[in-house]
Amino acid sequence: MDTQVNWKSLEERAWVARERAYAPYSKFAVGAALLADSGEIFTGCNVENVSFGLTICAEQVAVSTAVQAGCRQFSGIVVVADTEIPAIPCGACRQFLAEFSPALAIFCVGRGGVHRTWSLSALLPLPFDRITKAS
Ligand code: THU
Repeated sequence: MDTQVNWKSLEERAWVARERAYAPYSKFAVGAALLADSGEIFTGCNVENVSFGLTICAEQVAVSTAVQAGCRQFSGIVVVADTEIPAIPCGACRQFLAEFSPALAIFCVGRGGVHRTWSLSALLPLPFDRITKAS
């Protein structure tokens, strides 16, 4: 786990991002803050759609925003939600994150600051990748 990451400042950014969540259907607001190797922080919130399957997760918004800004390498992400047990990235988000940083450090925070840390490689040990695709 990357101890260089300032989780507290990332967490603050993630909670602020969560306030922008558009989640009228699930009522489950999620915020994310992604730390790029450049030192920049990119945030995201979930964006739902009346056609439910079009919903975009907070992590995917954060990654997409970072890529658009020219950043493709990341050391950590904080994901926050108002839950007793910290919510961890869904399977689709794990694959989305693995595209850029397979060993990303993940810090999940729930209600009252309860948190858990993970490595993306532990949550998704065998991501689909270019090698798999080529063979
Ligand atoms: N959600 C995220 O934003 N990130 C995840 O990793 C899992 C789920 C969102 C999608 C949807 O808007 C809501 O949480 C309920 O599933």
